[in-house]
Amino acid sequence: MQASPPHPPALRAGLLGFGVVGSGTHSVLTGNRDTIRARAGCPIELTMVATRTASRARASVQADVAVLDDPMALARHPEVDVVIEAMGGTTHARACVLEAIAHGKHVVTANKALLAEHGEEIFESARARGVSVGFEAAVAVSIPIVKALREGLVANEIEWIAGIVNGTSNYVLTQMSAAGRSFADALAEAQALGYAEADPTLDVGGGDAAHKLALLAAIAFGGPPRLDAVHVEGIDGLQATDFLHARRLGHAIKLLAVAQRAEGALQLRVHPALVPRDSLLARVDGRMNGIMVKGNASGVTMYWGAGAGSRETASAVVADLVDLARARRQGAQVAVPALGFHDAALQPPRVGVFAGLCLRHYLRVALDQPEGGAQVLETLARLGVPVTQGAQGRHTLALITGEVAESRITAALDALRALDGVQVKARLRVEDLAGAADGG
Ligand SMILES: NC(=O)c1ccc[n+]([C@@H]2O[C@H](COP(=O)([O-])OP(=O)(O)OC[C@H]3O[C@@H](n4cnc5c(N)ncnc54)[C@H](OP(=O)(O)O)[C@@H]3O)[C@@H](O)[C@H]2O)c1
Repeated sequence: MQASPPHPPALRAGLLGFGVVGSGTHSVLTGNRDTIRARAGCPIELTMVATRTASRARASVQADVAVLDDPMALARHPEVDVVIEAMGGTTHARACVLEAIAHGKHVVTANKALLAEHGEEIFESARARGVSVGFEAAVAVSIPIVKALREGLVANEIEWIAGIVNGTSNYVLTQMSAAGRSFADALAEAQALGYAEADPTLDVGGGDAAHKLALLAAIAFGGPPRLDAVHVEGIDGLQATDFLHARRLGHAIKLLAVAQRAEGALQLRVHPALVPRDSLLARVDGRMNGIMVKGNASGVTMYWGAGAGSRETASAVVADLVDLARARRQGAQVAVPALGFHDAALQPPRVGVFAGLCLRHYLRVALDQPEGGAQVLETLARLGVPVTQGAQGRHTLALITGEVAESRITAALDALRALDGVQVKARLRVEDLAGAADGG
């Protein structure tokens, strides 16, 4: 057996961006330096930072770390082995990442939008150049879900993934549920606390969760990220009163990201949904993230942790760096294929028809007269929509249907809207996968 060299060379990292994620990565790399070295088998050194406002980085990093204002120069610099992309955005970040790959550098990124939109091109370029793209930080930051899917659950056919992967939306929903706040008030509070961006569209509109779902599905099912295939609905139309009705019917309301394989086709969807109140996902509150995965051998597993934050995200960035350092010590460029499947096995998934999706549904209808409730129930029965739970007041009927196809519930809603004295106020899907862990 050959003895390892006493001083293995450092893995030299170049950091693009010195904001929340970039500064956290610097902090964890320096603060945990000895432990990281002991685990990686070599030092991981930040040799260079490139960012727009260079003064902020200069004030934080040691004197021997070069600070540039040109990310492209860092992406092709000979003294960088791995480029950490922590700038965000998809235009400049894409150009820098492709430039780094073209120059034979590994890439680690926290940028889910970049990989969801340009992943196919980026992963393909990295494969062709024999370098790796690490993106543990891009999904549910401190939860090692990429590693769990790609490595820990590698033996499984993944049947489904159901997750709460946007901390901002989850905070807003938790406030609406616990404090009875309106959507606008809960969002304003999240913004005041710095939990939501000034433009919160990507978070509350479901777009950010869709980016993450596209990445999760790619590694769970083995294909390029398919953002275009994700059905997306946000939480901006939700009313506080529906949280009360949902609770009375034994449910909580969460923004879910679901990837599910059924009859050979993949369903990808992000939308608010009722989940059983005693389910594990219902208990993921505030800014936390939670993800359930069902494997055909493992059964259901559940992961919970912070979905945002400086050091929390850095924890995942550095994990990817350590993987790289370890692979290099073994003489390999890439430890695990980026998408968890070997190149020849990657296939674009067959995407299921959304209209055929069968779920239960929650409906809330306003009634001019109490007798309108019977009319609603008769109409639903005539159209083949069973009702399994319901609660009627003088002017409101809240109910949960049995499983019906999207196309059938859409037709039923049209019929209800045509009734005199009845207004459909809310329709939400009920996600029964979320109760699976409690049911065994
Ligand atoms: N924040 C989180 O908790 C979190 C969690 C997971 C993933 N992410 C992802 O991580 C990435 C970075 O997020 P962040 O929160 O760290 O953002 P941020 O705080 O806004 O930091 C971005 C950094 O990149 C720099 N930058 C942006 N565009 C640049 C350009 N064209 N050229 C040079 N420098 C540029 C910025 O410089 P200036 O300071 O001069 O603007 C800033 O230093 C995003 O893709 C985000 O989605 C963030």
